[in-house]
Amino acid sequence: AALLGAGGALSGIKAVVTAGPTREPIDPVRFITNRSSGKMGYALAAALRARGAEVVLISGPTSLATPAGVARVDVETAAQMLDATRSAAVDAQMLVGTAAVADYRVDAVAEHKIKKRDDGAQLSLVKNPDILAELRAAQPDLFIVGFAAETEKLAEHARDKLARKKLDLIAANWVGDGKAFDRDDNALQVFWPGGERALAQAAKTDLARELAALIAERYQARTA
Ligand code: CTP
Ligand code: CA
Repeated sequence: AALLGAGGALSGIKAVVTAGPTREPIDPVRFITNRSSGKMGYALAAALRARGAEVVLISGPTSLATPAGVARVDVETAAQMLDATRSAAVDAQMLVGTAAVADYRVDAVAEHKIKKRDDGAQLSLVKNPDILAELRAAQPDLFIVGFAAETEKLAEHARDKLARKKLDLIAANWVGDGKAFDRDDNALQVFWPGGERALAQAAKTDLARELAALIAERYQARTA
């Protein structure tokens, strides 16, 4: 405990962290996914653990090593991520959603490999459940942190998501044009109902430590 220092502050707290992309199947050999590497989520899981939290990491497919002292549950689809998150969050105080959850899945996954045709092809997509919104409805007292990756109107979209999903805090970053995804550094604009703070461009591991400190601060302010 001494190693955690006075700023540990999350001892006795169970935090569930979602991370990485999801993978939505099209047929037995194909899927839809996105450019999330999982780096920010894994770094944040490690930083929350370093502050004394018990951390369960619900991870989509990534090529990253599990942070020391963190329990990891591997999933592929958004539906699996929702199930695993629900189970892990039952006795948790905090949920941090860093995962780039696919907004849609294929309506009817083909049982066999789809054959090439000369006249093109269409995929029919249906909306996936929103993991953070589902967990807010199930556990009103959970402290929920969201992420927002935006290519335009960052503050407006982040504030909208904060309100719409009834989050306690949201960390927003610019994406596209070589920013954020699959990089080792990032910058964040963090919003909560009563304020905001900018975390300057830094290595994702350093940024994760700063964000974990801010999460601990806001968690204590809310429960004080
Ligand atoms: N999220 C989630 N479940 C989903 C979609 C998103 O839990 N099905 C979470 C993400 O992990 C993130 C936050 O919600 O913490 C915001 O994700 P984002 O994709 O930016 O928001 P959406 O509501 O999907 O809006 P849009 O993609 O239209 O910007
Ligand atoms: Ca989305």
